[in-house]
Amino acid sequence: MCGIVGYIGYRDAYPILIKGLHRLEYRGYDSAGVALINNDSKLSVYKAKGKVQDLEDFAKDKNITGTIGIAHTRWATHGEPSNANAHPHYSQSESLALIHNGIIENYTVLKAELTSKGYTFHSSTDTEVLVQLIEYIKSTNHCDLFTAVQLALNQVIGAYAIAVIDKSDPDQIIAARKSSPLVVGIGEDEFFLASDASPIVEYTNKVIYLEDEEIVVIRRGEEPKIVTISNVVSTPHIQELKLSLSQLEKGGYPHFMLKEIFEQPETLQSCMSGRINVEGTNVTLSGIIDYKEKFVNARRIIIIACGTSWHAGLIGEYLIEEYCRIPVEVEYASEFRYRNPVIFPDDIVIAISQSGETADSLAAIELARKAGAFVYGVCNVVGSSIPRNTDSGSYTHCGPEIGVASTKAFTAQVTVLAMMALAIAKEKGTIEKDVYLKILKELQNIPNKIKEILKLNEDIKNLSSIFTYAHNFIYLGRGYSYPVALEGALKLKEISYIHAEGYPAAEMKHGPIALIDNEMPIVAIATNNAIYEKVVSNIQEIKARNGRVIAIVSDGDETIKELADHYIQIPSTLECLDPLLSTIPLQLLAYHVAVHKNRDVDMPRNLAKSVTVE
Ligand code: AGP
Ligand code: GLU
Repeated sequence: MCGIVGYIGYRDAYPILIKGLHRLEYRGYDSAGVALINNDSKLSVYKAKGKVQDLEDFAKDKNITGTIGIAHTRWATHGEPSNANAHPHYSQSESLALIHNGIIENYTVLKAELTSKGYTFHSSTDTEVLVQLIEYIKSTNHCDLFTAVQLALNQVIGAYAIAVIDKSDPDQIIAARKSSPLVVGIGEDEFFLASDASPIVEYTNKVIYLEDEEIVVIRRGEEPKIVTISNVVSTPHIQELKLSLSQLEKGGYPHFMLKEIFEQPETLQSCMSGRINVEGTNVTLSGIIDYKEKFVNARRIIIIACGTSWHAGLIGEYLIEEYCRIPVEVEYASEFRYRNPVIFPDDIVIAISQSGETADSLAAIELARKAGAFVYGVCNVVGSSIPRNTDSGSYTHCGPEIGVASTKAFTAQVTVLAMMALAIAKEKGTIEKDVYLKILKELQNIPNKIKEILKLNEDIKNLSSIFTYAHNFIYLGRGYSYPVALEGALKLKEISYIHAEGYPAAEMKHGPIALIDNEMPIVAIATNNAIYEKVVSNIQEIKARNGRVIAIVSDGDETIKELADHYIQIPSTLECLDPLLSTIPLQLLAYHVAVHKNRDVDMPRNLAKSVTVE
């Protein structure tokens, strides 16, 4: 969480920083700020509670000159969203300004020490402690800014991506990272700094991804210099970005979320492309081929993830157990990392993450690797921390996902997991050839079937307006549809702020059935599957209690259409691939309910896209 941007070069820094903040706003948006060393060598810090637009309004009549600056969009961890707590933070003498993404865990001890030395604090953040500490070290040790940053970071416990500027040296930005991402962009006579590459791609495609505990000194007219906090010099590894600007724009859609829902036929194509052969008869994932022995001999697979990615993991469990006959456990990364789990060296851990930066998932990976397990990443953001900290993996290749509510990343994760299950099952010999070919063939039909579902957008929009009155929703599904119910409920609560619960349909009678009355909408995923009849009975039970059922049914269904108050009919597919289709109407339903309620769909309250703090 929190977006960091920096610029040093020959152009005006302010417009570049503001544009960069807009691109990073999905990471956090409770306040924003900018620090510039103005053309008259003054260090100006402007901050505002609210979105980047509020900062722009505040700064419009201020001195925004200067060719060096840093900027931040915040997702508060320590201290409420306010002007005072917004970053950048000044040091005591106001000669340094610093931005930070992460948490300084030992900030209370450091703050007490600095307070005893006469330092005063103007915010409740952990971050302000760090800038004061750097200044304290710089003045007491009479050292340069780089050394002060290095010494300070050796005293810090926690996670950080930081950038600091010093008004006495307007030719330099110092930045560092540990557990929070940071990318340096290299242009002609100019440098950029950002939490991800999206603010940089417009200016250059040459980037360096900093590694943990590295400090970078970015100085005008010189190559960036990278040294670790333990003073080891690293050679910068310059990479080429493969990101296009159009992927970062709304392209005529009112929200990124809607654009991303509609992109799914193409994103799933791109996810499969190069992996399924032209004849459509074989799937190859290089990350698995290279380690096929490990997969064939795996004692167990543990899937770790958070949020929507965890829901994809549940579908992965069903697929892998059904076709590969390997036991699978799906764990919340945040629980796994702290509960002393049993991990065997012949376990395979699959970490699923859109951003590749989720702090809990990264910590869970570290734990698994320490225990000797082989770790496989399924991530979307190329070059992010998870792919760099895993033994092997597969990218989902669905392009940048900007809407905070994950949509296209989810379907791409499920597609990768389906391809993984097929590839492993084939290597293990646990799948019949005709079953393998049938699933593979149907996987390739999914993008066209999604196109058909997207044609229902207007109908779903009309349906959603009926339900905007509701304060609660229940989503029910069984088998492969159970994780879809969880995901549908999560989408609705994230962006409409309506309470929603996903439940296995048959569990309803063990408790939630008490909630049902004639005001309770129940979304039942009742597509064709082996236990269709059982789901019909579950819907009967709801109707007997006057619940209002919106059913997702397969083409050709007659029974549930009769029973339900409303239905959305989608193309039939194989049961194991059905989540790829039944998820789409639920994404659209959540989207339209939220729009009807006038919610900020792409930036829902309290959330952030990339959860890089605990
Ligand atoms: C999805 O809509 C959510 N905003 C959230 O649950 C997300 O899936 C979770 O934070 C995990 O993120 P990751 O996939 O980037 O690791
Ligand atoms: N801990 C800092 C703050 O509360 C940064 C938060 C973050 O990175 O999300 O301001």
